[in-house]
Amino acid sequence: MSWLRLDGVTRRFGGKDALSDLSLGIGKGEFIALLGPSGCGKSTALNCLAGLLPLSGGSIWQDDKRIDTLPPERRGFGMVFQSYALFPHLSVRRNIAFGLQMRRLPRAEVRRRTDEAIRLVRLDEHATKLPGQLSGGQQQRVAIARAIVLEPSLVLMDEPLSNLDAKLRLEMRTEIRRLHQSLGLTTVYVTHDQEEALSMADRLVVLRDGRVQQIGTPEELHTRPANRHVADFMGYRNLLPMRVASVSREVVTVEGAGMALRGTAVGEMFPGDEVVAGIRPEDLRAGADGIPATVEVVEYQGRELAVEARTEQGVVLHLRAAERPSPGDKISVVADPARVLVFGGGK
Ligand SMILES: Nc1ncnc2c1ncn2[C@@H]1O[C@H](COP(=O)(O)OP(=O)(O)O)[C@@H](O)[C@H]1O
Ligand SMILES: [Mg+2]
Repeated sequence: MSWLRLDGVTRRFGGKDALSDLSLGIGKGEFIALLGPSGCGKSTALNCLAGLLPLSGGSIWQDDKRIDTLPPERRGFGMVFQSYALFPHLSVRRNIAFGLQMRRLPRAEVRRRTDEAIRLVRLDEHATKLPGQLSGGQQQRVAIARAIVLEPSLVLMDEPLSNLDAKLRLEMRTEIRRLHQSLGLTTVYVTHDQEEALSMADRLVVLRDGRVQQIGTPEELHTRPANRHVADFMGYRNLLPMRVASVSREVVTVEGAGMALRGTAVGEMFPGDEVVAGIRPEDLRAGADGIPATVEVVEYQGRELAVEARTEQGVVLHLRAAERPSPGDKISVVADPARVLVFGGGK
C-alpha cells in the first residue's frame, strides 16, 4: 500500500490543463523523480503536492486521510527550490534554525537539531558565515539543511541543482541521495535532466504536455520506454520514421528511406503501419553488410567516439565507434536487432 497517493490530480490555468490526471502512489522512503522538458507540468505537480496550488480536479491522500484541502503548513512537507531563497542578513546557522524557532521549540532542542543538520550537509566550518560569503553549492546545502532540519515526512525538490556548475551538480546529486538514504526521507524530485533522474531516483514519472507518459524504475525506462517521446528522452537519438513490412509476435521488420531493420514491437502494429524505429547510438556500429553511410562528424567522448554518418538517402545516423574514422569515410552501419525498438501509434 502506498503511503501517499495522488488520484487523478489535475490543474488548469485559464482553461488549459497544465497537469492532467496524475495518478501515483508513493511508498515511505521512496525517491521519485518527475522528469520532462520545460513546461510539461513538473512544478505544477510539485506545487499541488505542497499545497501552494489548489487542484482543479482529483485528490491527494496520505495514510487514507485526504490532504489536498489542507494548507501547506499543515501538510508538514519540506521544500527546496532552484533559487535558494535564504535570508541574506542571517548566518548559516540562523537560516537553518529559523523554522525550528518559528515552531517555538525549546532552545536546547533547536541547538541540537541545527548542529545535526549543519553536520549532515557538511557546513560545520561555515556555520557563522552569511549566505553571500558562500559558494552556490554551499548555499544550496543551507537550503537543503533548512528543509530537512524540520524532519518533514516528505521532501519536495524543484530543480535544486540547475544553478550549479557541472562538477558541483554531480557532487550534490550524490549528497542528496546520501541524505535521502541516511535520514530515511521520502523525496519527490523535479528535474528536466534525465541523467540526474536516472541516477538518483527509485522510480521516475515522465511527463509531457501535462500528461504521464510512463512510470517506472530507471531500468524499465531505459530498456523499455513506452513510446517514442520517452525513448527520445532516454537517449534513443536515432528515431527513424519507417513502415512495417512484416510482424511475427513481437518481432517486426520495418523499411524506409532505403533501410531495412528488425526489432521489437512496442504495442500492436500491422504491415503498412507508419512507425518509428528507436535505436541508441551505442547500439549502432560500423560492421559488415549494413546500411551504407558516409561519416560526417566524429566527436571524442572518453572511451569511445560519437559518430554522425549520413545514408545515401540523406538520413543522419548517430553511432559509436572504437576507432577513429575520418569525415568522408564510407562505412556500413549495423544495428543489434535485440536493441531496436519499434514504436507504433501516431502520438
Ligand atoms: N501561474 C500560472 N499561470 C498560467 N499558466 C501557468 C502558471 N504556472 C504554470 N503555467 C503553465 O503550465 C504549464 C506547466 O508549467 P510548469 O508546471 O511550470 O512546467 P515545468 O515545471 O515542467 O517547466 C506551462 O505551460 C506553464 O506556462
Ligand atoms: Mg518548473
